[in-house]
Amino acid sequence: MAVEVKMPQLGLTMEEGTVSKWVKGEGDTVKVGDILVEITTDKLTSEVASEAEGTLIKIVAKEGEDVPVKGILAYIGQAGEAIGGATAAPVAAPAAKKAGKTTVAVIGGGPGGYVTAIRAAQLGGEVTLIEKNKLGGTCLNVGCIPTKVLLHSAEALAEVKEMAQLGINVEVKGIDWSKVQAKKSAVTNQLVSGVSGLMKANKIKVIEGVASFASKDTLAVTKKDGSKENLTFDKIIIAAGSVPAVPPIPGVKENANCVDSTGALSFETIPKSLLVIGGGVIGIELATAYSRFGTEVTVVEAMTKLLPMMDGELTAQLRKMMEARGIKIMTDAKVQSVEAAGAATKVNVEVGGKVEAFLAEKVLVAVGRRTDTEALNLDAVGIANDRGRISVNDKMETNVANVYAIGDCLGKVMLAHVASAQGEVAAENALGEAAVYNGATNPSCVYTDPEFAGVGLTEEKAKEMGISFKVGKFPLMANGKALIMNGGVGMIKFIIGEEYKEVLGVHILGPRATDLIGECALAIGLEATVEDIIATIHAHPTVTEAVREAALAAEKRAIHIPNK
Ligand code: FAD
Ligand code: NAI
Repeated sequence: MAVEVKMPQLGLTMEEGTVSKWVKGEGDTVKVGDILVEITTDKLTSEVASEAEGTLIKIVAKEGEDVPVKGILAYIGQAGEAIGGATAAPVAAPAAKKAGKTTVAVIGGGPGGYVTAIRAAQLGGEVTLIEKNKLGGTCLNVGCIPTKVLLHSAEALAEVKEMAQLGINVEVKGIDWSKVQAKKSAVTNQLVSGVSGLMKANKIKVIEGVASFASKDTLAVTKKDGSKENLTFDKIIIAAGSVPAVPPIPGVKENANCVDSTGALSFETIPKSLLVIGGGVIGIELATAYSRFGTEVTVVEAMTKLLPMMDGELTAQLRKMMEARGIKIMTDAKVQSVEAAGAATKVNVEVGGKVEAFLAEKVLVAVGRRTDTEALNLDAVGIANDRGRISVNDKMETNVANVYAIGDCLGKVMLAHVASAQGEVAAENALGEAAVYNGATNPSCVYTDPEFAGVGLTEEKAKEMGISFKVGKFPLMANGKALIMNGGVGMIKFIIGEEYKEVLGVHILGPRATDLIGECALAIGLEATVEDIIATIHAHPTVTEAVREAALAAEKRAIHIPNK
């Protein structure tokens, strides 16, 4: 029986080696300890000695070929012996295939694309990532991270103003906006260069350029320097993301004071007044930040409530808090048009059957985002999409074999952690594993003051689905830590299935809500019951105690509030 000669593992981190030189040739007689082949890795050169005696009947990996650790290099046996049922000579294919790497292209380097690329590389893929702009995508450059930097400064300012209540007398001398902006750039740059380092560490080739499908397995890449190249891959994963949508409101496009979220993150000075079109996540987060910086903020939302996908009861509480802080909020209101009014802008809003005019120095247009798929040439190669929103199944496969899509470019849930989770699923499927995406544990977080987070079903959704459920609520006024942190503002709310007592949803308005929601997502993922939450001891004094108390309240067992 032929003995396999395999690529050795020469160190903990070694994943593959290159066959640099065969010392023995096919047909040579070999003894135990004879040097057969020289291999190199990026760190060292080594020799592979024979562990068997006989004839080198077949060399599978040619000189120059990369072979994964434990991949087959050759066979030693008796002259003319069959390998795996066939004669020695023609049997190279299975081992050669094993030695060859799956080539993977990832289009886009946002939190979807770069995570996909890393996972694909971890699974042995030879990965190329093509990014037309900056690694980190929307999230690191003009999304999650820069907004949170502004919000952090705004929150710190609010806290300083309230220091006297804590017995600390400080005076706010003003805001150095250029330093706020510098901090934003520093954090963003550090994270972007971190992603670049991760690409190198994972041996992912990064091409700066725009990718477009030339055929189902070939990308036409126009590089930053203007050169063009067609590249063919075994697997292609699209992570092209999204860009701000521009509504067809007369005057918006032409008016320089109307900006999208990217513009609103980089105002030259803090505007005196800001009108926000769209009371969704971007609108509410930036309204929170600028109002804390002293801007007079007005929010105009077309629907009957802000943050339409979040729990209605807690959204109403948040609205009251924002209004108490001086933010003017109009729901069921439609912007009719925008026009110049000297250096400012006049926004005509239809509200309560009348058209009212509002003057603002700047107008933030935040009415949603659209997929950034125009350059991809999807239709030409038959990739199914609905006006640019790519269609996939739960394995993240498109209708075209070996082409996957993930993240914002699907035009569904546009969140960084969803893009990353879907990216891992796509990479695993592309590299031969069997993974499916399940969004049940996906938390929605809004970085307001206090924070707002939810996972699973809202009360409205559970009703709409006809599910029998009960609700457990705990006001944070009755939680010691919350009382210390923000005066006890906020609430935690559980939605529990009536029959099996499973956790269906949890909604939190309060300090650190976006961290607290992790436990609740885990509970949903593990199909935990309310009893599981109750049986878990939560540390004192923490806001997490209130999570358990809200679960107790669903069972009418709350300790620190009366049970109704
Ligand atoms: P993107 O991050 O958009 O990345 C796609 C990348 O693909 C881009 O870099 C683009 O240049 C590149 N690309 C596109 N087409 C091509 C092509 N043809 N060739 C080469 N490259 C291409 N989400 C959260 O979860 N939490 C938050 O707090 C949060 N805050 C946000 C705040 C703002 C202001 C905004 C705008 C968004 C926020 N989001 C947040 C949403 C989050 O940024 C996105 O959901 C996330 O970035 C999507 O990741 P992605 O990889 O799918 O796409
Ligand atoms: P969004 O979909 O959250 O909200 C847009 C809002 O604008 C909706 O409430 C909609 O009813 C309203 N609207 C639409 N047309 C309007 C009009 N003509 N007049 C008035 N209101 C109008 O979209 P948004 O805020 O632009 O954010 C885009 C995406 O970015 C979101 O889908 C979200 O997933 C992501 N994001 C996530 C954040 C987070 O997780 N913390 C923060 C910011 C953005």
